[in-house]
Amino acid sequence: MCGIVAYIGFRPVLPVLQDGLKRLEYMGYDSSGIGLLDSGRLRIFKAPGKIRELEKKLENEEIKGNLGICHTRWATHGEPNEANAHPHLSAGGKIAVVHNGIIENYAVLKKKLLAEGISFASETDTEVVAHWIAKFYKGNLSQAVLKALEHVEGAFGIAVICEDEPDVLIGAKRGSPLVLGVGENESFLTSDVSTIVGHTQKIVYLEDNDVVTVSRAGFEVKNIRDKTVSREIQEVDNDFELVQKGDFPHFMLKEIFEQPEAIKNCIRGRLLLNDGNAKLAGLDKSLKELRSIDRIIITACGTSYYAAMVGEYLIEEWAGIPVEVEYASEFRYRNPIIGSNTLVFTISQSGETADTLAALKEAQNKGATVLSICNVVGSTIARTSNGGVYLHVGPEIGIASTKAFNAQVTVLSLIALLLGRQRRLSSVQGMEIVQAINSLPAAVEQALKLNDEILEIAKVYYKHTNFLYLGRHFHYPVAMEGALKLKEISYIHAEGYPAAEVKHGPIALIDANMPVVIVAPKDALFDKIVSNAREIKARGGKLIVVTTADSAPLDEFADHIIKVPSVNSALMPVITSIPLQLLAYHIAVLCGNDVDQPRNLTKSVMVE
Ligand code: F6R
Repeated sequence: MCGIVAYIGFRPVLPVLQDGLKRLEYMGYDSSGIGLLDSGRLRIFKAPGKIRELEKKLENEEIKGNLGICHTRWATHGEPNEANAHPHLSAGGKIAVVHNGIIENYAVLKKKLLAEGISFASETDTEVVAHWIAKFYKGNLSQAVLKALEHVEGAFGIAVICEDEPDVLIGAKRGSPLVLGVGENESFLTSDVSTIVGHTQKIVYLEDNDVVTVSRAGFEVKNIRDKTVSREIQEVDNDFELVQKGDFPHFMLKEIFEQPEAIKNCIRGRLLLNDGNAKLAGLDKSLKELRSIDRIIITACGTSYYAAMVGEYLIEEWAGIPVEVEYASEFRYRNPIIGSNTLVFTISQSGETADTLAALKEAQNKGATVLSICNVVGSTIARTSNGGVYLHVGPEIGIASTKAFNAQVTVLSLIALLLGRQRRLSSVQGMEIVQAINSLPAAVEQALKLNDEILEIAKVYYKHTNFLYLGRHFHYPVAMEGALKLKEISYIHAEGYPAAEVKHGPIALIDANMPVVIVAPKDALFDKIVSNAREIKARGGKLIVVTTADSAPLDEFADHIIKVPSVNSALMPVITSIPLQLLAYHIAVLCGNDVDQPRNLTKSVMVE
């Protein structure tokens, strides 16, 4: 997604911004740019493609200055070319703006500007903001931004500089994240706190409609009505500094292999062995309320949505509470019926997904308590919720989510246990579940040993253009997630399906060119899915089966058998997902793709 880093202080600005761009890179982008004051003159450098293209343009530049803004763009309005890259300049070239989000009324604003004779250099919505600020500029940038934003509709996080005000950096936000980092005689603005924690850990989370004026000496936050508001400085952890690929060729592979440790961190201190229960500090205040809920809605996007589907089965199985799972993008615009005993969960790794945030607010607006499962501490969704549970798995850098998925499922199992113990699970049943959750890291470790085997399977199939992924019950969402992993990094078309549904249409696709990945551990539905596998085989499909020991009769007719360790059947998604992550990874590498930054994708989708 688009990313912003801006700096005002005493250091040479160019290296600070270049470092910022590199740290934004993991989010995914298709062009980048820098705007800075060089010996008092506003200069802009932009390039489509990777950051190295921008660096080439900067190679022979000697910049003198310590105020600037930079941006990675993920195209929304206009293709990813140099003209559309940020920063955008006002007419006259004195004011430069970088922007995340979407200006919804940009066409109206642009029409007015065109009527006034302003000409445009790009197709973006952002350029309108630069011209609109210039329209109100009378020697005070902060006032001009405030006035301009009165006319702007939509979501934005912006950073603005002006050639005539070399000691001022302005930031503003509405519906898109922007944080201020406060150092000694220097400050930073960023859309992603991980980009600046190496410089300062003193952070101000700006709120919607805040406009911050930052100087070397300090900062002042005003609301849109020009009233000064106070915002607390918070200390954040600097765990992002530790994130390196180590010996792994890609962050994605590193994160897949990190999962035993990640799950350990996720469950640490949260299992009560003797009580057969879970203790989740973020839900402590809601414990009484949780006892009376009779319906749960979980809303999320992408991989987090598939984790939510596993959560639905877990909660219904252990706690007996009806659960509905809905895409956040649908939930937010439906008229959801939320009763007084309905509890809403949102799930988001990044904690910044625009649709999930909007769904959260819609649910709160209808009176629901909303609890969230997030990874990024201090993220907007985490701060907006009424409580929740962090994953504690450290930063996820690979765009394809892996360790977050399994940590989300693990947290959902803890929640299901807690809700179950308030209802129908006995302490003995609870103790069994606690032991099963505790056994997950070791079982994941075992499953990772299949890596070489899966690489060999990937070599057989990486040139295929279509895949089907099938599963039943707990493994239907796993199949969906496996298909999503494959398509997002290998660009191969893949579909996940409930295994028994295939005969209602998709079976027409099966022939010798269709690899079908079936997730079929030995569980209550094993015989059923064996029948589904036979139906595929009878039509010539190639069968890659993820199963457990004692998998006869699958061994007789599957083309490839991957045997993962067994755990409690409700927790098996954490194990069966591992080979699917590895399969997608190896196929993508064999296809020669940029696994950590696949085309068109972004780590957190901050536009709807
Ligand atoms: C897939 C993936 C996406 C995200 C989705 C939601 O690998 O990463 O599908 O899961 O964009 O993101 P979060 O969880 O940050 O809300």
